[in-house]
Amino acid sequence: MKVLQNKVALITGGARGIGKAIALELAEAGANIAITDVAPQPEMESTVNEIKSLGVDALAIHADAVSFAQAQQAVDQIVEYFKRLDILVNNAGITRDGLLMRMSEEDWDLVMNVNLKSVFNYTKAAIRPMMNQKSGKIVNISSVVGVMGNAGQSNYSASKAGIIGFTKSIAKEVASRNIQVNAIAPGYVETAMTEKLTDDQRKLLTDAIPLKRTAQPKDIANVVKFLSSPDSDYITGEVINVNGGLYM
Ligand SMILES: NC(=O)c1ccc[n+]([C@@H]2O[C@H](COP(=O)([O-])OP(=O)(O)OC[C@H]3O[C@@H](n4cnc5c(N)ncnc54)[C@H](O)[C@@H]3O)[C@@H](O)[C@H]2O)c1
Repeated sequence: MKVLQNKVALITGGARGIGKAIALELAEAGANIAITDVAPQPEMESTVNEIKSLGVDALAIHADAVSFAQAQQAVDQIVEYFKRLDILVNNAGITRDGLLMRMSEEDWDLVMNVNLKSVFNYTKAAIRPMMNQKSGKIVNISSVVGVMGNAGQSNYSASKAGIIGFTKSIAKEVASRNIQVNAIAPGYVETAMTEKLTDDQRKLLTDAIPLKRTAQPKDIANVVKFLSSPDSDYITGEVINVNGGLYM
């Protein structure tokens, strides 16, 4: 039997990038998958078909992670369809980089809402079915810059640091219900979010990474699988750095 056989996992921002890699990894491990995203319908359908080709069931729901009402609706729809919810991966995220002097209030609010409020929205909506089942796994995708900071990313870093405080608090709140809540702080991962870097910027960055390579989405998905499985049942409130040694 596969390690996540018959489990149901929800991945926010699961249509592409790291979220898609996580969806495929958990599906390979036997979990049925729901993704929520604001990506175009054809892209969501294509991801769902790829997941289904691995022999599990999958559902795509168009939902803006910023809206609590849409998060609640999505979770209700998933529980109605699959009859349970075992794993929540809060992955949806964006960047709106700029030095503070030039950062608009809109860019601050948008990043905090998409990256941090979404984690509140989905965790609050998912915690009830998990409590009823007396088990659950929540994995929040933070970032290396949430732990070490980065010039030009004060909004993004603050949102990712906020996820860490939230993770530890909720881990304490729900530990007695057999729900484990952890975070992953990825380093530089090759996705649409990071493709804007010039070759020079990329070389500088790679030189600073002890393992001398950037991450592939699967490097992050592997750790999500571990934190979603019974192998990590005694780990909660933890932040796992997956960054090639960039920050230790
Ligand atoms: N790529 C990196 O180097 C890196 C490093 C550390 C952390 N992260 C984090 O990993 C997560 C995934 O990043 P990625 O690199 O795959 O980015 P990506 O841009 O490739 O994918 C992000 C996904 O989130 C979705 N999304 C955006 N806004 C949304 C909203 N309001 N509601 C629902 N879905 C929404 C997008 O449509 C997309 O499918 C993010 O939280 C990001 O901050 C990425």
